[in-house]
Amino acid sequence: MKVEKAIDLVNVTKKFDEVTAVANFSAEIKKGEFFSLLGPSGCGKTTTLRMIAGLEIPTEGHILLEGSDVSSTPAYRRNVNTVFQDYALFPHMTVRKNIYFPLKMKKISPSEAQPRIERVLRLVNMEGFGSRLPQQLSGGQRQRIALARSLVNEPAALLLDEPLGALDFKLRVAMQKVLKDIQRNVGITFIYVTHDQTEAMTMSDRIAVMKDGLAHQIATPDEIYNNPATAFVASFIGDMNFVHGTVLENDGNTCVLDVEGQNVTAKRSVDLGKGAEALVCIRTERVQVNPHRSVENRVTAKLSRIVYRGTDYEATCRIGASELRAVVQAVAWDADLREGDGVEVAWNAEDVIVFPREEEKDVIKYSVEAV
Ligand SMILES: Nc1ncnc2c1ncn2[C@@H]1O[C@H](COP(=O)(O)OP(=O)(O)OP(=O)(O)O)[C@@H](O)[C@H]1O
Ligand SMILES: [Mg+2]
Repeated sequence: MKVEKAIDLVNVTKKFDEVTAVANFSAEIKKGEFFSLLGPSGCGKTTTLRMIAGLEIPTEGHILLEGSDVSSTPAYRRNVNTVFQDYALFPHMTVRKNIYFPLKMKKISPSEAQPRIERVLRLVNMEGFGSRLPQQLSGGQRQRIALARSLVNEPAALLLDEPLGALDFKLRVAMQKVLKDIQRNVGITFIYVTHDQTEAMTMSDRIAVMKDGLAHQIATPDEIYNNPATAFVASFIGDMNFVHGTVLENDGNTCVLDVEGQNVTAKRSVDLGKGAEALVCIRTERVQVNPHRSVENRVTAKLSRIVYRGTDYEATCRIGASELRAVVQAVAWDADLREGDGVEVAWNAEDVIVFPREEEKDVIKYSVEAV
């Protein structure tokens, strides 16, 4: 089956005077794909979206919509629609009139528009709300009407810039499901901007993880979680341990490192030679404390802190000058363990990811810093 391209970004760069907001960004976005732009504040997500919409002109590079170069096509002539965080519904118009507005601009008669309006109202699960004014709706309902208004034109792609940012946590999670269902039902390409990694991971087919205008990785959520391309991606997604190591041996398939005088084996291809300074990464949920089964990597450590978090325990283990955190499901936790105990921490060689030490500067230490 031929996969059709909806949007093609070819070496797109955007500079605002001396600030490079987006640097040499390339991506092929498929028809019907849910594609997210994810990254910390200021990394260039909105600028990328605005260039696709035609609201910013790239300094360099090209943008293609359904195969044709739109780099010099004005926003109103591009077959895409943008949904912003603040909904921007007309307050004096009813829901039905708000949704009719883009069709009216296209000179479509009310009688012709009527079935299309009813269809999108059904799609966002808001039938029966057509006569209400925006202020008579909740935040989530307003967001759904804004979405209906964007969908009524049947755009080739829908561009969404943190569309759930104004909603409280529970409504946000509910709306994520609604959005994903709508996207599946209509089959329209969604380009979705968020700085919330969980939101991107649960909703997207593919994610572009960005930092300082650069796309560090463009891949599926699975690939990004299990094979992060850079230390920044490894730190931005999920909960990761980072410790210093030195390469002892590396044959291209298996890499043995010295970590605090103990050997750690990584079973994956690592591009570092003997003696190289490395950054060794292990997901907290892959670290086991005193395991019964045989595991390739076993190091002796001291339990320095135990935090009970309801569904799991977070155990901080000291290995020489380094710290390694293990997140263990509460049902699997050994209740006899105490802070100060000597333990063995263990993990599989497949779970070790290795980067050059110089990438340490890109590591986001606490998830709050990423917001
Ligand atoms: N019109 C502008 N003039 C000058 N600099 C700009 C302009 N728009 C954006 N920038 C700069 O470009 C960079 C990227 O901004 P952008 O709005 O794309 O980030 P973002 O990833 O959407 O961030 P946030 O998550 O905070 O919305 C920032 O450094 C920002 O200050
Ligand atoms: Mg933004």
